[in-house]
Amino acid sequence: MSRDEATIRAEILDRVRELHEVRTAGRTFTPGEDYVSYAGRVHDDREVVAAVDATLDFWLTLGPHGEAFQDRLAEILGVRWTRLVNSGSSANLVALSALTSPKVDGRLRRGDEVITVAGGFPTTVAPIVQNGLVPVFLDNDPLTGNVRVERLEDALSPRTRAVMMAHTLGNPFDLDAVTAFCRDHDLFLVEDNCDALGSRWKGRLTGSFGDLSTQSFYPPHHLTMGEGGSVNIVKSGRLKVAVESFRDWGRDCWCASGKDDTCGKRFRWRLGELPEGYDHKYIYSHLGYNLKPLDIQAAIGRVQLDKLGDFTAARIANYEAFAAAIAPFAEVVQPMQATPGAQPSWFGFMMLVDPTAPFTRNELAQHLEQHKVATRMLFGGNLVRQPAFTQLARDAAEDGRGEAFRVVGDLTGADRLMHDAVFLGTYPGIDDARRGWIVDVLTTFLRERTGIAG
Ligand SMILES: Cc1ncc(COP(=O)(O)O)c(C=O)c1O
Repeated sequence: MSRDEATIRAEILDRVRELHEVRTAGRTFTPGEDYVSYAGRVHDDREVVAAVDATLDFWLTLGPHGEAFQDRLAEILGVRWTRLVNSGSSANLVALSALTSPKVDGRLRRGDEVITVAGGFPTTVAPIVQNGLVPVFLDNDPLTGNVRVERLEDALSPRTRAVMMAHTLGNPFDLDAVTAFCRDHDLFLVEDNCDALGSRWKGRLTGSFGDLSTQSFYPPHHLTMGEGGSVNIVKSGRLKVAVESFRDWGRDCWCASGKDDTCGKRFRWRLGELPEGYDHKYIYSHLGYNLKPLDIQAAIGRVQLDKLGDFTAARIANYEAFAAAIAPFAEVVQPMQATPGAQPSWFGFMMLVDPTAPFTRNELAQHLEQHKVATRMLFGGNLVRQPAFTQLARDAAEDGRGEAFRVVGDLTGADRLMHDAVFLGTYPGIDDARRGWIVDVLTTFLRERTGIAG
């Protein structure tokens, strides 16, 4: 960089810091007037500077910041590789698609079954259907939000090939039981770790137990780059090649953006029925996508990664404060419980309203919202009751294609979560003042409705 360029850049970045200070100076919180969101981006001037600095580089497509982010996240998680994509949903799509690659031993074929859980987020399950596979739904335990592991064996069929499910709201599912089940029956495991970055199972970070795992970096998640996600490849080199290919148009070539001939034989391959020496850059071994984010996003993510430890601590502290606040009301409302063995980095603080409570979940949610405290339901609730899935079942029946998905046992836990659960935010933007307000609003309602002095 010439001296002039360096000087100008430094001046611009100084002005960016100044602007950030001006924009954020004097921000206060007025309880009852200012809305307390359940989640959102938490950052300081460093993320803004990183974004502007990367924009001034104008590399744009995934490049040096992307590589640095991927290496660092893989190192933190203790997996061999991480590959950035443009969302958590894309990460799930790429991860599951990778399992269908002819380059992967024991790949999934059309009609094969993937065990999942009924209550949760739709794009954990959508890629199963999008790949011509059959989701097999198990029930959730309503208190942990996770799969009822005692039913795993009931879900098996000769076509079962994989398990894919999320650590619900950051609460790890029973990884001892699930990994043992996958090992015993030779199944792939994809952990949807989108809501659980920083969560641990017996001390080890989730996202490192399956064959693949996924992250979301959308603002409500544990760290953000605006839009974004990643697929984490725990150890298989073949899965890494398949993940990269599905993300990058389905190509066989693995050159990084702006590079040529990494393989050293760009014009010497013979694949498919293409003429020998057809340019490897344009050889496609999969029906892929293009799901890459920008390098600018990765630059923001690199700063956020340094804050992961503090963010995790804040999420845990907020969960604990809310759990303590509602403890006197345990007869009517229970907090989501960590799966025994789990140390969650909570995505939210879920409360389950007891059927005998003198109020409904919706009344509780409305009270909180009226007092400017954001609430959320457990995403799609029982997914099999969503229009997308009821339509899928109808279409399959009408077309005589058999079942679009299987349901194993009852789904009373997932239904319960859909009817009786609501969650509050735990994100680091909930500081002392906001936490105090939430506790006030919540406990006032519970005291008034139950007569219990909490
Ligand atoms: C468990 C789970 N998986 C996947 C996603 C999708 O992530 P994204 O919004 O980045 O597509 C979400 C979104 O919140 C989620 O909660």
